Amino acid sequence: MSDWRKSDWRQKPRVQMPDYTDQAALNEVEGQLSQYPPLVFAGEARRLKAQLAAASRGEAFLLQGGDCAESFEQFSADAIRDTFKVMLQMAMVLTYGAKVPVIKVGRMAGQFAKPRSAPTEVQNDVELPSYRGDIINELAFTPTARIPDPKRMLQAYTQAAATLNLLRAFSTGGYADVNQVHAWTLGFTASDKAEAYRELANRISDTLDFMRAAGVNQDTAHTLQSVDYYTSHESLLLEYEEALTRLDTTSGKWLAGSGHMIWIGDRTRQPEGAHVEFARGVLNPIGLKCGPTTTTEDLKILMSKLNPENEAGRLTLIARFGNGKVDDHLPQLIRAVKEEGANVVWVCDPMHGNTVKSNSGYKTRFFNAILQEIRDFFAVHQSEGTVPGGVHFEMTGQDVTECTGGLRAVSDEDLSARYHTACDPRLNASQSLELAFLVAEELSALRSARQVQQVG
Ligand code: PEP
Ligand code: CO
Repeated sequence: MSDWRKSDWRQKPRVQMPDYTDQAALNEVEGQLSQYPPLVFAGEARRLKAQLAAASRGEAFLLQGGDCAESFEQFSADAIRDTFKVMLQMAMVLTYGAKVPVIKVGRMAGQFAKPRSAPTEVQNDVELPSYRGDIINELAFTPTARIPDPKRMLQAYTQAAATLNLLRAFSTGGYADVNQVHAWTLGFTASDKAEAYRELANRISDTLDFMRAAGVNQDTAHTLQSVDYYTSHESLLLEYEEALTRLDTTSGKWLAGSGHMIWIGDRTRQPEGAHVEFARGVLNPIGLKCGPTTTTEDLKILMSKLNPENEAGRLTLIARFGNGKVDDHLPQLIRAVKEEGANVVWVCDPMHGNTVKSNSGYKTRFFNAILQEIRDFFAVHQSEGTVPGGVHFEMTGQDVTECTGGLRAVSDEDLSARYHTACDPRLNASQSLELAFLVAEELSALRSARQVQQVG
């Protein structure tokens, strides 16, 4: 995009970004970051784009997941490993249902900045600026903690670099050992559902035994031991994003070097706003959250701005309407996409429209509401004849109690036991895996329906 400069967003209206008071400190941090190496490389972003293009045609399926907000305090190798491991397990289960490759994209190594519903927060009659993610200010409820500090960007960069380093090592280190499939379901207590999962696990391990016996194993060993794992985050703090943007000399295009995929949030998708202006100029795959207030007119404008050449895999639409609202919103947006003949990947985020305050006072999400939104998303695509291309979860490999429900039922009273999120409630390891089995059922039903259509 020859008419685009990485600083052009500065001329546009900005929302959800901090007002840094110390301009000199901000300039210094931006200068430093722009000297640092990019975290990802253009070839990787292009490979992800090609895989997402396949997802738009139903030839791959996207699994995007991770923390709502990464935290400085909870940064640990174990936490990264556990989330990575659960995502690989989920991907294996989904692959079995969909019979297509699953693209794994973490909300990791950069998911530090948060849009908030209110600029301030009140506790016991004291009003302070809202917490906006560890890259901007601190969660502690004190006046100094809530002052935006540009130096936090340097710590976020360092943590992102260390996270990516570990992820790159895990991706080739045999962590995705499918031969462990049985162990994954051990935590599920006896019930019809747990039995069904075990049967699926049996079928997967039977298939592996067969492949080994047939000698397929030699060629596929590499495929099963190493994976492509990508990173993504909301492109919210544009000073950070701009400072990590680099020219890709191969293509002459600009790369957002902060992560493989970046997305625009539901609160920052104004067609004339700063966030859209930034995203339109970089070559990375872009996600766009679509919520109940997304109009068909805006969507059409956004699609032409963000993907003027209608490149497949460039634009992922992440639908997040809330349980019970999918039928009211998704069909008209799907039709707008069809009218434009636009290439998009449709993904379901069943988390952000389903946040509620529990009786115990904690922000939570009900497992069944999450599941129902996914089922409605699949049903609408089935009736519109379009492709459900993936799912987007807030989840962790840790055994937290933040969302209620699931087979190892977390109740309202349990929420206080291990509620650790810095922002929105996440699915724990067991809830994540259970959802993967349920989404796999949807995918497998979809496949059977397509086969019947082809035969009939
Ligand atoms: C998020 O994904 O963490 C988020 C804030 O989502 P949304 O913009 O859809 O509300
Ligand atoms: Co969130």
